[in-house]
Amino acid sequence: MARIAGGLGTSHVPMIGRTLAAGKQAEVPFAPFFEAYAPVHDWLGERKPDVAIVFYNDHGLSFALDNMPTFAVGAATEYRNADEGWGPPEPRSFRGATELSWHLIQSLVADEFDVSVCREMLFDHAGITALDLLYPGHDVPVAVIPIVINGVQPPLPTPLRCYKFGQAIGRAIKSFAQDANVLVIGSGGLSHELGEFGKINEPFDRMTMERIVSDPEALTRYTNDEIVDLAGAQGLELMTWIAMRGAVAGQVDVISSVYQNPISHTGGAMMLIEPR
Ligand code: DHB
Ligand code: FE
Repeated sequence: MARIAGGLGTSHVPMIGRTLAAGKQAEVPFAPFFEAYAPVHDWLGERKPDVAIVFYNDHGLSFALDNMPTFAVGAATEYRNADEGWGPPEPRSFRGATELSWHLIQSLVADEFDVSVCREMLFDHAGITALDLLYPGHDVPVAVIPIVINGVQPPLPTPLRCYKFGQAIGRAIKSFAQDANVLVIGSGGLSHELGEFGKINEPFDRMTMERIVSDPEALTRYTNDEIVDLAGAQGLELMTWIAMRGAVAGQVDVISSVYQNPISHTGGAMMLIEPR
């Protein structure tokens, strides 16, 4: 039987990936962000997830404005990169988990989430930065299932819809008959607006992190417009954390958490939770 080992929310600011690639985690002003990953690495060593389901918002790499799914699920045997948010990327490839992908897709459609099915999909800096934070050194041992949530072009899914989507994925994981130890990742946020550099709302971000743990349903009562007003247009990346929390249902314990303002133009945050 498949089970959910835990859930990780993390910022995916390209400067994080660049710092990791240069091995300069201890030298940057946001070094505490990387330090908070030490307990995460210990936890990964103990729990050894074999699949990572990664909720993220595609940044125009796989989906442009002419073709924008609300929810898209990867069903490929491998995912290549093309953008890590800085410079020409080195070619990389991430192993898929096709049987679980198809099980998720079938379960989601039966559960009234009519997702786009992606048998080919490029994996952008949002997914890759999260995996590099978890497994520095580029040796990613988990198979991945990228799940894209439209956070770019209206009409956007609401926080409530994203929470329910995550819950449906949580149910689908638990009904997968094969053995799989699944880590669910929400890659995005927290507050930022790249067109209005530096729009960071630290009180909102900190309140959001508390609610992710103790009262995620409170976050589902926001409208998309309210989130944009409070957290900036790219603050909508919070949807990825909300979906992650929907999947990791019930009471949770926090293994590690950090908030660092700013990382680049973003309220930088990480939180690892596990089901109680
Ligand atoms: C930044 C943040 C993002 O989420 C992103 O996708 C690109 C850049 C930033 O703060 O620089
Ligand atoms: Fe982003």
